[in-house]
Amino acid sequence: MTQAAVDAAAKRICASGRVVVLTGAGVSAESGIDTFRDIGGLWERFDPDEVATASGWLRFLISKPWEAIEFLSGLREVFARARPNPGHEALAELERLGHLRAVITQNVDGLHQEAGSERVIEIHGTFTRRRCMDCGLRETLSREAFVEDLDVMIAKLGSYLVSHPAHVLRRCACGGLFRADIVHFGEEVHDLPEAVKEVREAEVMIVCGTSGVVYPAAGLPGQAKDNGAFLVEVNPEPTELSAIADLNIQAGAGAALPALVRAVRERLATRT
Ligand code: OAD
Repeated sequence: MTQAAVDAAAKRICASGRVVVLTGAGVSAESGIDTFRDIGGLWERFDPDEVATASGWLRFLISKPWEAIEFLSGLREVFARARPNPGHEALAELERLGHLRAVITQNVDGLHQEAGSERVIEIHGTFTRRRCMDCGLRETLSREAFVEDLDVMIAKLGSYLVSHPAHVLRRCACGGLFRADIVHFGEEVHDLPEAVKEVREAEVMIVCGTSGVVYPAAGLPGQAKDNGAFLVEVNPEPTELSAIADLNIQAGAGAALPALVRAVRERLATRT
């Protein structure tokens, strides 16, 4: 990470009232949550066609309960421990400083809100909400309640002869079954018009911790550029989006984002 790149990004941010951030799994990597496509990532250990499509997931629960237990136990361990890291906290501070309008995130872990970010557009949904598959009722739950739900599912999978998802999933008052309010592969993303509006209006867009291969999220930085925004990428590795970025800060989110916000604060202090 070069200080010159950090300072150049901070200068743009301070000069703009319209800054937006797009985050991906890399922002939560330093909170202990595996990314999807890095070495050892989730998609190396599990087949996304099996666990990341809605019908595949229900089939997986019934046909491979022991593998489902392994998957859910891993999720449980990670979520029970995960806490916001300095990268999440820096973005929350940038919003408090009045220089960040929204975080658009592909992450489903709720850590941006836990760090204090108020305006978070979760285009891939969130594990901190469940949704009834019949009536559509949504219920917000704390991370602790989500972990408890996982414990119940794991126990049921381990002790039942599971032949139907109803044996494992929680029921809504309407009689329907709840699922996590996340976006599975093949499903429509959430709140896309709101995200696109933010991106089109942005003067600066920071893209952090995403490989930029999953659409429509991966198309948002291009839309920002087409509308004249200055694009900053924060990532330890080059990505599909690196070539269109105006500035590349090659570092992890936990170091780069606090450095960026520190530089913004210093600039703002010398202005007054
Ligand atoms: P990926 O796993 O595809 O990419 C993670 C990115 O984070 C890579 O570019 C890494 O270089 C970068 N990275 C790793 N450690 C980092 C750190 N400490 N700081 C900053 N960056 C770091 O994850 P996403 O791009 O988020 O979708 O994946 C997009 C979507 O694909 C996910 O939302 C999920 C997945 O399948 C659904 O499940 C619908």
